[in-house]
Amino acid sequence: MAALPSGPSGAPPALRARGISKRYEHGRASVAALDGVDLTIPAGSVYGLIGRNGAGKTTFVRIAATQLRPTAGTLEVLGHDVVRDPGEVRLRIAAVPQESRPLYFLNVDELVFLYLRLRGLERSDARARTDAVLEELSLTPIRHRLVSTLSGGMRRRAMVAMVLASEAEVIFLDEPTTGLDPVARREVWAAIRKARRAKRTVLLTTHYLDEAEALSDRVALLEGGHVKVEGSPSEIRDRVRYPYRVALQGGFTREELAPYGEVSVVDPGFLVFAREASARELASLALARGARVALGPVSLEDIFLQIVGRPIDVDAPEDGEGSGP
Ligand SMILES: Nc1ncnc2c1ncn2[C@@H]1O[C@H](COP(=O)(O)OP(=O)(O)OP(=O)(O)O)[C@@H](O)[C@H]1O
Ligand SMILES: [Mg+2]
Repeated sequence: MAALPSGPSGAPPALRARGISKRYEHGRASVAALDGVDLTIPAGSVYGLIGRNGAGKTTFVRIAATQLRPTAGTLEVLGHDVVRDPGEVRLRIAAVPQESRPLYFLNVDELVFLYLRLRGLERSDARARTDAVLEELSLTPIRHRLVSTLSGGMRRRAMVAMVLASEAEVIFLDEPTTGLDPVARREVWAAIRKARRAKRTVLLTTHYLDEAEALSDRVALLEGGHVKVEGSPSEIRDRVRYPYRVALQGGFTREELAPYGEVSVVDPGFLVFAREASARELASLALARGARVALGPVSLEDIFLQIVGRPIDVDAPEDGEGSGP
């Protein structure tokens, strides 16, 4: 099989973006949603695109899925250019957009089955795949319900089922688990892992950094239309200045903690991002003082905070370059 990241065997990567930019015009103002994004997604991997609201994730996915033209740059899916050869690209991809409106007059079973038939699968194959995916995502009990009567989370699962059941080699899932309950979320995770085992490629956008970390072989952090950091979660962890976190309750003032690393006030107590030696020293001191302490490697959430300077659940500023009214 082709080795990560881009297949020295000559096989093209699942996706290769070079200098992708996108400007949206709002009357006389314009917004740079993406600004020179370079990304390579190895075939057969799960790739997490993370970033705050407005970071540019959906814009990127829509360009890759041939729904939107870039203002500049090139993007190839399995070696086919999305602008020059959109037809070739569409044969190989399946997408669940962020705002998905399935056909409401179908029931769940028909939604999946007819989608597979439209993609050219034989009747018996489409039937078998439909049954299997509905079971996997616990949709069997509601298979005869009209899509129009489903809750938002159920509808979302039905859409995810539809694309994962397809034969598409590259799958785009724009926030597949937003609004899902914890059980449904785990089922979607399992279905994504299964797609990966079948050597398919999944590009996933999410605000849930635990999700990105649990599923992705590699992640890219988008902020203000730029890729701020890219790599496997462990590579990224190795690259950050402070790879350890020490959570403390009681026993210290903020001033005392400052020499150990970067201190944030959290509720309750403090969070200190530190290098390994300082983290260990601080943890033993805390134990000696009888404070509550937890020491561990930083999570993707911590890394986000270190790189962007704000948590992921705070909106990105609208980058209204260009002239305002
Ligand atoms: N159709 C559009 N017309 C004008 N501006 C747009 C349009 N779509 C997106 N934008 C702007 O482009 C920027 C990036 O939006 P995008 O939807 O790609 O972000 P996102 O990372 O998917 O955010 P979210 O997490 O909220 O889904 C934002 O500033 C947004 O306001
Ligand atoms: Mg989006």
